[in-house]
Amino acid sequence: MAKTPTGKNTSGRGQRDLKVKVKSARGRKLSSTRWLQRQLNDPYVRRAQQEGYRGRAAYKIMELDDKYRFLVPGARVVDLGCAPGGWSQVAVKRINALGEKSGKSIGRIVGVDLQEVEPLAGAEFHQLDFMDDGADDKVKDWLGGTADVVMSDMAAASSGHKQTDHLRIISLCETAAYFAFDVLEDGGTFVAKVLAGGAEGELQKLLKLKFDKVMNVKPPSSRSDSSEKFVVAMGFRGRD
Ligand SMILES: C[S@@+](CC[C@H](N)C(=O)[O-])C[C@H]1O[C@@H](n2cnc3c(N)ncnc32)[C@H](O)[C@@H]1O
Repeated sequence: MAKTPTGKNTSGRGQRDLKVKVKSARGRKLSSTRWLQRQLNDPYVRRAQQEGYRGRAAYKIMELDDKYRFLVPGARVVDLGCAPGGWSQVAVKRINALGEKSGKSIGRIVGVDLQEVEPLAGAEFHQLDFMDDGADDKVKDWLGGTADVVMSDMAAASSGHKQTDHLRIISLCETAAYFAFDVLEDGGTFVAKVLAGGAEGELQKLLKLKFDKVMNVKPPSSRSDSSEKFVVAMGFRGRD
C-alpha cells in the first residue's frame, strides 16, 4: 500500500479526504511548514507517489499532451530542465522510446538540467546549464539531428524578488524558443513554462509567426496559486 512521507496510507475510503496538518517546529521556517503541509495534502503529489512518477510535474505534460497529442510514437524529443525526470518518464512511454509498442516507431529523448538526473531507461540525460555559451550546440550534438518536440519546464530557484524571477523565467523561455527554431522539424512542437499572461508580448508575436497554432494553457495540475502557465506552439513553419 502506498504511503505518504509521514507513513500514512494513501489508499482506502475516507483516507483521501483526511487533511494532514503539519505542526510548526522550532528551526523550521513558517514558509517551509506551509510548503510541507501543501505537499502532504496535494492529490497530485500522492498520485505521483502511487503511480511511480518522480514528481507531480509529470501530470502537467500528461495533461498538455492529452489535449494536443504531440508525444507520438517515434518522436524525437528534447526535455530542457528535465530534473528529476517526470516529464521524461511520460515522454518515454508515449514516444515508444523503449520499443514496447510493437509495430510503432521508436522515439528518442535527450534531457538536460543544471542538476544531475537519476538515469531513466529510454532517456539520455546530461548535466548542463542551458544558458551557458555553446550549450545549444552540445544538445544538438547529443541529439544528432532534428527534433519533433522541444519542451522546457526550466525554472530558476526563486530569488524572493518577484520581478527578478519574472525576468529569469522569460529569459529561460526565450532561450528555449530560439533553440527550438534551430532544431525543430517542419510541423514540430514547442512547449514551455511561461507566466500568468502566457508567452510575453514579443515572444508571443514571434511564436505566432513561426508556428501555425499558439496556445497559452494552465493545465489542471498546475497549482491555482502559482502564476505558472504553459505555451504550446504547434506546426513549426520551418527555418526558411
Ligand atoms: C520544475 S523543475 C522541472 C521538472 C521536470 N519537468 C520534471 O518533470 O521532473 C525545473 C528545472 O529547471 C532546471 N533549470 C533551471 N535553470 C536551468 C538552466 N539554466 N539549465 C538547465 N536546467 C535548468 C532546474 O534545475 C530544475 O530542475
